[in-house]
Amino acid sequence: MSAEFDKHAATYDGGLDHPLKRLLGSSADDFIAVKARWLLRREHGLRSANTNGGRLRLLDYGCGAGDLMRVLAGLGARASYAGCDVSTGMLAQAAARWPANLGAVPTLAAQHGARTPFGDGQFDVAIASAVLHHVPPADRPAVYTELGRVLKPGGRLYVFEHNPRNPIVRHVVARTPIDENAILLDLREVQDGLLGSGRYEIETDFLMFTPPSLAWLGFVDRALAWLPLGAQYAVAARKPA
Ligand SMILES: C[S@@+](CC[C@H](N)C(=O)[O-])C[C@H]1O[C@@H](n2cnc3c(N)ncnc32)[C@H](O)[C@@H]1O
Repeated sequence: MSAEFDKHAATYDGGLDHPLKRLLGSSADDFIAVKARWLLRREHGLRSANTNGGRLRLLDYGCGAGDLMRVLAGLGARASYAGCDVSTGMLAQAAARWPANLGAVPTLAAQHGARTPFGDGQFDVAIASAVLHHVPPADRPAVYTELGRVLKPGGRLYVFEHNPRNPIVRHVVARTPIDENAILLDLREVQDGLLGSGRYEIETDFLMFTPPSLAWLGFVDRALAWLPLGAQYAVAARKPA
């Protein structure tokens, strides 16, 4: 698994090698920023110190080159960041691409198989962004279990995935090198997988109806969040306190 993603690490740009995707967003960060802004709207603790005066502990599971943490931090999200990935090449990129002006590089840890290299109940927030479609279906339940294991009671888990109901998504994924072995999964599979691994309160939103480069159209995306045709979907799951 590591080798599959290591070969893409040095040039990883969020799949922007497809011309249609480049048309919709001028940089990979445009796409990541849609998710980051969505997270900032939900996770108020990222915008200020939490009730204990400390920072939220945030795990980016399958963090790749660290883009989501970097864009979040660039938008002002205050968190103690940690990332893990099966690809050591991706983790090296995450460290190398972290800008000095964003402070300390996140804690980055290599992962072997599904087991995350972190102890139980450590994180307030855990995120898996564009990871599950790279995990073989039979291995996905173990990922849900791991994400729940590392969350604190009351912690929040966020899964972002490509929406297979969107024809543009299917077209782009079928032609993107890093997705050569991807198996897309629909919202119901994520919901069922999470509920099969733990007791969660679950909410969902659909994202990316408008081109990510046109951030000012965000109000349209927010109005359409119920419609199951967005290019991405987000599942928010809260672990019982
Ligand atoms: C498309 S990239 C997404 C990276 C990042 N989450 C983002 O949104 O930019 C998918 C990442 O998932 C990682 N990955 C694949 N299978 C994994 C698994 N079973 N556990 C953790 N990471 C995995 C890959 O190494 C790769 O870095």
